[in-house]
Amino acid sequence: MSTLGTIVVTGGAGFIGSAVVRHVIGATDATVVNVDSLTYAGNLESLADVSDDSRYRFERVDICDFEAVRDVFRRHRPDAVLHLAAESHVDRSIDGPSVFVRTNIVGTYTLLDVSRAYWDDLEPAARSRFRFHHVSTDEVYGSLPAEGLFTEDTPYHPNSPYSASKASSDHLVRAWHQTYGLPVLITNCSNNYGPYQFPEKLIPVIILNAIAGKPLPIYGTGDNVRDWLYVDDHAAALHLVLTHGAAGETYNIGGHVERTNLDVVRSICSLLDELCPDSPFRPHASLISFVTDRLGHDKRYAIDASKIQRELDWKPSETFESGLRKTVGWYLNERVWWERVLSGAYRQMVGESSNGETGQRAV
Ligand code: NAD
Ligand code: TYD
Repeated sequence: MSTLGTIVVTGGAGFIGSAVVRHVIGATDATVVNVDSLTYAGNLESLADVSDDSRYRFERVDICDFEAVRDVFRRHRPDAVLHLAAESHVDRSIDGPSVFVRTNIVGTYTLLDVSRAYWDDLEPAARSRFRFHHVSTDEVYGSLPAEGLFTEDTPYHPNSPYSASKASSDHLVRAWHQTYGLPVLITNCSNNYGPYQFPEKLIPVIILNAIAGKPLPIYGTGDNVRDWLYVDDHAAALHLVLTHGAAGETYNIGGHVERTNLDVVRSICSLLDELCPDSPFRPHASLISFVTDRLGHDKRYAIDASKIQRELDWKPSETFESGLRKTVGWYLNERVWWERVLSGAYRQMVGESSNGETGQRAV
C-alpha cells in the first residue's frame, strides 16, 4: 500500500500530531481528518500553515466518545487511522493519573472498537488496504542500565502512570490484531523535540526559561539519559510505516542520539549564547538549577532502530546538533506562538477563557 485517500489522524492538534498533519498535507495527496478534543495540549494555531488546505478537515471529538467517533468514520470513510491522541506528559501522570487511564486506555479501546466495526463492513479490497496505526513510546520498555538498547522484543516494563497507560494501549492494539484480525501497526519512538512542542517537556521549558532569564530546572543530578529524535523525522517515519509497514508488526523509531539531560541543557545554553549575543542572561548556563528529582525517574532510554532502517529504509535526516539549532531558532522567531501558549490566549480559539489551564505546569 503506497498511497492513501483519507487518513484519520487523532491528536493532530498536538506536538507530533501537528507535524504529521503538516507532513501528510505537504508531502502526499492524502486527505487528513484531524480528530482532536483540544485539551490543554491541543493548539489549532500549530496548524495555521495547512488549515486552509482543501484536503484538511477538523473534527473536535473526544476519542472516548464512541458515538462521535463512529459518526466521524461514517462521514469520512477513512482508509487508515493514525492514532496519536493521548495524555503525554510523565509529570502530569504522576500528579493525576486518572485522565491518562481514560484517554490512553479507554480512548484507544474506543477507537479500536469503532475501527473494527467499520473495517468489518468494508469491501474486500478496502478491507485489505485498511490500517490502524498506533503511535507509542519507548517508555513502555522501562529503564535501561548503562549498556543495551530497546528492541521490538524487549519485554514491557513500564514504570510511570503514563508509560503504563501507553503499554496497556499497545496490548489492546495487539489483541485486536490477534483476536479480530484488525490490520494494525505499532510504533514505539524515543523522545521527540522540535517546533510547536508544549512548554512542559524538557527542551521547550529550558529554551523559554533561558530566554526569560528564569532558572533552568534539572531534575536530580541531570545524568538521566534520553534518546532524541527531531519531530519531522518522526512524522516522516510514521507515514512510511503506515504506507509500507507489514500489518501486525511493531517498529521502534529513534535517532541514536543519547544525551544526558545536563548535556542537552548545556547545548541549548551554548546555542542561545551564540544566537542572542545581546542577552543580559549570558552565559545562559549560569541559570542552571538542580531541583528535586521526579518520582520513579527512569534512568536511561535508548532505541535500537535497526528494524525500520533495514526493512523500510528509514533513517533520520537531522543530527541532534542540526535539529536543536533549528528548534532554538524556531522558538526565537516564533514568539507569538509560545507567548499565546504561556498566557493562555491560545485557548480563546476554542472558545475558552484564557484564565484556565495555561502553558506551564507549576513545578
Ligand atoms: P501532545 O500532548 O502534544 O498532544 C496530544 C494531543 O491529543 C493534543 O492535541 C490533545 O488535544 C489530544 N487529545 C488528548 N486527549 C484527547 C482525547 N480524549 N480525545 C481526542 N484528542 C485528545 O502529545 P505528543 O507529544 O504530540 O504525543 C503524541 C503521541 O505520541 C502520544 O500518543 C504519545 O504517547 C506519543 N509519543 C510521544 C513522544 C514525545 O516525545 N512527545 C515520544 C514517543 C511517543
Ligand atoms: P520530558 O521532556 O518530560 O520527557 P520524558 O519524561 O517523557 O522523557 O523529560 C525529559 C527528561 O528531562 C527526563 O529525564 C526528565 C527531565 N526533566 C528535567 O530535568 N527538567 C524538567 O523541567 C523537565 C520537564 C524534564
